[in-house]
Amino acid sequence: MIRAAFEPSIVGFLCNWCSYAGADLAGTSRLSYPTNLRVIRVMCSGRVDPELMLEPFLRGADGVMVLGCHPADCHYLSGNYQAEQRVHCVWMVLEHLGIDKGRLCLDWVSAAEGARFAELVAEFVSQVKRIGPAGHEESREELSRQDFIWRVRVGMRVTGTEKFRWLVGRQKALLDDKNVYEEQLSGERLRDLMRTVIAEESIRAAIELLTEAGPMSVKDMAEALKLPARTVLEHTAYLKRYGFVELHDILGRTPRYVSPRYTQAKDEI
Ligand code: FES
Repeated sequence: MIRAAFEPSIVGFLCNWCSYAGADLAGTSRLSYPTNLRVIRVMCSGRVDPELMLEPFLRGADGVMVLGCHPADCHYLSGNYQAEQRVHCVWMVLEHLGIDKGRLCLDWVSAAEGARFAELVAEFVSQVKRIGPAGHEESREELSRQDFIWRVRVGMRVTGTEKFRWLVGRQKALLDDKNVYEEQLSGERLRDLMRTVIAEESIRAAIELLTEAGPMSVKDMAEALKLPARTVLEHTAYLKRYGFVELHDILGRTPRYVSPRYTQAKDEI
């Protein structure tokens, strides 16, 4: 019932040289397409950071489009290939977090393809309608708004981590070049590596977010995250070693941890 009346809010990152011009052509040609799209013009699709692909979801978007020039037509030569690699990695983050990856789309539109632009927008709006409103129990993910936002925040942290960004940026080199042991990484091995990084960084991001809200024991965090205490302890120790969490106090015999951001915010009050 909700899905029938649902008009998704869509954010589109359009590259200046092709897809934005294609959208302009659709407008000047008076082609009709759904009005759900809010456009953000970027110089190249390769400039859209993985974190930026997720941020619109925090701000109420139900879907995000990244539209660039056709392969081999990018004004900056390889920006659209970079966008493709990034979107594939963000899809993996969404999958890991239980968010429908159909909420993020990547496609190509040339400056002469006003009709194609209109079709893509219409198709994507229908697709997001089928998935349902972001953060609604009746959507395909069956997540509450609070749960959805929490997962997006975790995802944004993951896409901002050094390991994730390094793997995203080195994908082509890792697949094309041999390593120091003369080994060549297969696509499947690279995807496995990325899955491992996403899984580990998601737990660390969640611990950081929890401890930014206040002191928490490992047991409390394990309960909140529905994870074994041993796993949470290992990741908390890792974060503590690198200064991302610190010991706050010992309650009885239970150590409680906080993020330095929590301590800093308290000091400023
Ligand atoms: S300029 Fe269009 S994708 Fe790079």
